[in-house]
Amino acid sequence: MTPLPTPRTAALVPAAGRGERLGPGAPKALRSIGGEPLLRHAVRGLLASDRIDLVVVAAPPSGEGLAEVARILSTLRSEAGVSVGEVLIVPGGATRQQSVALALAAVPADFDVVLVHDAARALTPPATIAGVVDAVRAGADAVIPVLPVADTIKSVRPRSETPEAAAAYDTVGQTVDRSSLRAVQTPQGFRRDLLERAHAAAGHDATDDAGLVEALGLPVAMIPGHVEAFKVTTPFDLVLAEAVLAARIKEPPMPAINLPMVGIGVDVHAFATEADLETEPRPLRLAGLDWPGQTGLLGHSDADVVAHAACNALFSAAGLGDLGSNFGTDQPEWKGAAGIVLLAEAARRVRESGLHIGNIAVQLIGQRPKLGPRRAEAEAVLGEAAGAPVRVSAATTDGLGFTGRGEGLTAIATAIVFPTD
Ligand code: CTP
Ligand code: MG
Repeated sequence: MTPLPTPRTAALVPAAGRGERLGPGAPKALRSIGGEPLLRHAVRGLLASDRIDLVVVAAPPSGEGLAEVARILSTLRSEAGVSVGEVLIVPGGATRQQSVALALAAVPADFDVVLVHDAARALTPPATIAGVVDAVRAGADAVIPVLPVADTIKSVRPRSETPEAAAAYDTVGQTVDRSSLRAVQTPQGFRRDLLERAHAAAGHDATDDAGLVEALGLPVAMIPGHVEAFKVTTPFDLVLAEAVLAARIKEPPMPAINLPMVGIGVDVHAFATEADLETEPRPLRLAGLDWPGQTGLLGHSDADVVAHAACNALFSAAGLGDLGSNFGTDQPEWKGAAGIVLLAEAARRVRESGLHIGNIAVQLIGQRPKLGPRRAEAEAVLGEAAGAPVRVSAATTDGLGFTGRGEGLTAIATAIVFPTD
């Protein structure tokens, strides 16, 4: 396909259905979840996408329906980050397909890509919307988001067709191989000219727009859909939608752009006392190095506060907990492991969670040992374990506190990580 000349994308939102399967009440798109109509959630999701320049809503065609849709969408204007200059409302039709055709007819000529997105899929995540637009712009003429089918699927042989005259039940026709099946969602994305051709040629009432493209004998590309792009159809779906919204409020969404994330970590250990040293020698391990002749720190591990603070900072940045939750008593294989080994494992877990490590900075607080002369050595050893630059520095506390009195050492660390995609 030759590159599309003017990258302008419109999203059509069929919202004119009555929602019969939802039961009595207002048209489905006007029913609320989280105190807001489904349509408002759906249009907000589209407007918030930097891929969408215009939204055309096919509203319930009654005067009342049109006025209600206009009112619902006008209040989106006051929301930060949502520009609603680019919303058109048209009266919908008797079927979904007619509603889409009416909305399509209202798209100005300079739009080259068109999405069709059910108002009923109100909670579709931004990545799904972006994925569909990007796939069309990358050269697929028609794109649908799909999910594998979880249930075993069987066709029905109606009881009227069973040989026994008085069959009491419908029976199984056959089990369909679900591995070759996909459940189809919206938004579906199209080259505008192709969608127009498909609608003009439509000889049947399809339940989705890709079906009309398929009827032309043309390929429809599939990309991964998302469970949260489910269609609100039955009363149960309203309960599910409320639960999805509630979970989103508890867990603020990750930033849409891949901002780096910073973490903080601390570790403290006491120096061994004369009495401790009488029972067993305690060599000092610090910043991944051995320090012959220096009193060691106490702890079940090697008590390397620098390496441990670095681990805590990494876990903190990645949202993976801390040293205790990662290498605690429930993971006995890490008991007594050297700080440097824990740092290598912490870095591995952070990367496994899909993050790059930018760098780690650790500051040691204490009177001794003098870190300065061995800084480069420490940074090399720690950096190799982390697979990223580790900067080490030190400070004293002017004789104040337990570090000032030489009772122990503290290390404070920061780390920065960022998503790999
Ligand atoms: N739709 C539309 N115009 C129609 C029928 C449906 O714009 N004449 C829209 C619906 O508002 C919905 C989407 O198409 O956003 C998907 O349709 P569906 O889930 O079937 O919604 P309803 O037709 O409203 O529900 P039901 O079939 O249960 O009546
Ligand atoms: Mg319907």
